[in-house]
Amino acid sequence: MKQASLVLFVLLSSTLVVIQAQNSTSSSTSTKKKIDYEARAQELVDKANVFMNEHYMKHRDLFLTSNRKFHHLNSGTPQINEIQNNYRIFTNELAYNLSIIPLADIKNDILQRQVKILGKLQLNGLEHDDYDKSQQILKAMLALGTTKNVCHFRRPSDVCDRVAYMPLIHDVVSKSRVLEELNYYWTNWRSEIAIEARTRFVEFVYLFRKAAAYNGHVSPSKTWYLYYEENDLFKELEGAMWDIMPLYKEMHAFMRNVLRNKYDQNIMADDSMIPHSLMEQVLQHAWRAKSIFSPPFPERKLPDIKQKMDQEIFTAKKINELASEFFESLGLNNFSPHFWEKYARKMSDDEAGEDCKAVVFYFPPDVGLRYCPKVDFKKFLQMHGHMSELQYNLYKSHLPIGLDRDACPGFGNAIGESAIVSAGSPRHLEKIGLIENYTLDSELTMNRLFRLGVHTLISIPMYIVNEKFIVDSIEARIPPDELNCGYWKINAKYAGVGPPDKRDETQFDPGYSFYKGLDPKKPNTVKLISEILGYQIYKGLCLATNQYVPGDPTRPLHNCDYYQQESAGKLLKDVMKLGSTKHWRDAMEMVTNERKLNGKAIMEYYAPLYEWLKEENKKNGVTVGWDDSSIDCTEKE
Ligand SMILES: *[C@@H]1O[C@H](CO)[C@@H](O)[C@H](O)[C@H]1NC(C)=O
Ligand SMILES: *[C@@H]1O[C@H](CO)[C@@H](O)[C@H](O)[C@H]1NC(C)=O
Repeated sequence: MKQASLVLFVLLSSTLVVIQAQNSTSSSTSTKKKIDYEARAQELVDKANVFMNEHYMKHRDLFLTSNRKFHHLNSGTPQINEIQNNYRIFTNELAYNLSIIPLADIKNDILQRQVKILGKLQLNGLEHDDYDKSQQILKAMLALGTTKNVCHFRRPSDVCDRVAYMPLIHDVVSKSRVLEELNYYWTNWRSEIAIEARTRFVEFVYLFRKAAAYNGHVSPSKTWYLYYEENDLFKELEGAMWDIMPLYKEMHAFMRNVLRNKYDQNIMADDSMIPHSLMEQVLQHAWRAKSIFSPPFPERKLPDIKQKMDQEIFTAKKINELASEFFESLGLNNFSPHFWEKYARKMSDDEAGEDCKAVVFYFPPDVGLRYCPKVDFKKFLQMHGHMSELQYNLYKSHLPIGLDRDACPGFGNAIGESAIVSAGSPRHLEKIGLIENYTLDSELTMNRLFRLGVHTLISIPMYIVNEKFIVDSIEARIPPDELNCGYWKINAKYAGVGPPDKRDETQFDPGYSFYKGLDPKKPNTVKLISEILGYQIYKGLCLATNQYVPGDPTRPLHNCDYYQQESAGKLLKDVMKLGSTKHWRDAMEMVTNERKLNGKAIMEYYAPLYEWLKEENKKNGVTVGWDDSSIDCTEKE
């Protein structure tokens, strides 16, 4: 006797009706009627394998050709467009074919997971015209940042010399100390883009909801979180934010006090929210040498690593070697001379551009790398992230189609983040000779944690704000005529950030980074998860290798380095080999012993900074927390 269980989802005017038809039949009499779904799925997946092999081969050929000619390999060239277009059409058709296969009928676990993952799509699942439209919308939203639309602030009033957000305004935001200039650009750039930005965003949300309807998702944000297989991932991300909140509030209070003293006491009260225009500056500043924030102990200088790199005549190649050796020391893949010769190439100057970021390529069985010619400490750290991605790509390249992916989007970035934190620790830098005779006294430690903390602790609430705004918009939880106010309410709640002047619904105020996080191919979610999960993985590996011993002052989390620890490498190798054959929680548990995202590792890492900020705020009589009563959507003229 065989049991066939057919589950049909019928979507009737937003009511989900589940009809479960069960028929027990003897296999001999019903073979004609009964579809062998397992065989059908296998056939589709086999065909898909053939397609993907060809797809990767074309991609590899193009990569190698463009390597020889020193060409870009970005989208935009006809060949790349053709490859991407064929891929999209194929995956769209495949998803349609697989989506009608009942998962319960598939006994083979791996095959079942392939059908589950490949059977649903995000914007790629839209029909051709809608998909094209969605891509145009995303492009138009990115162009909001590159269109020259605001008159230059530092020109005579009768001259309008138009500038774009990128790079000029962005640069002003990080460097200018003129409050009037900061607010001028903040307000005028937004006024220029408001109508188009809002229109495009509403169109985007509409199409995204359509894609979700194709997936049968009653809650459209399930499609935003498609590859997380979770009903309410935001709740978990929010939980991590609440874990960090006590520390963030101290940091927020500290920054507000500095900003009031640097600029003007009148720009905000000692218990008000920080104006967005200044918060943007703080966020962009974290990495800069001449930050508006002096370190906690200004007279104590952190070792100048760039200087040391210059002394030793560092090259980009040397950075690659150090980063790849980091993973080799853990027992992961060695990259052969063949790889470096054939598959890795330095970007030409015009490829590299101002914002030079290395790119990793995946065309199994091979992987490729285009790296940045720049040599500095930031590139040194970032290369550890790229190396981690290359390693992950190699380990999962053996997996069947659909499962040769990160455990969830952002999982690989989180592993990379963890390697970056380890490689940037004083202990590591000393091991590889980039700093010498470094004594980790509490003052230097505080300076270092402060510098890192400004970046991490402000990025996370900003990503949370963007994430919440996207999800609430997709879920239609914010009334369309209150979108802007909704945006400010979210800012007030999670970040203590408010508008620099009075805003209304003729405006649309999300910043440029918001638009960059809307493409489901590289969403805001990934950045957020890589920060949170990155610290969790770091802590997990540090505990597993005894490089972090809670309570032992000689083994604090913030100076843990798991370089050369093969047991950490073993964990990483095992988790990388899994790809997405298992739920990401299972993968996460292997390296962290935890199944939920949380902010505890961040709190442990920054524990000394938290204590210092509390003391300092108390000493300065600074109020901690903020009054958000000025944001009220019901107040309309
Ligand atoms: C989808 O199914 C149709 C009908 O069986 C078939 O012609 C087509 O090749 C399939 N496409 C993919 C990508 O599986
Ligand atoms: C570090 O210490 C060693 C031994 O005490 C000494 O020889 C060396 O010059 C010191 N290096 C620096 C950069 O201070």
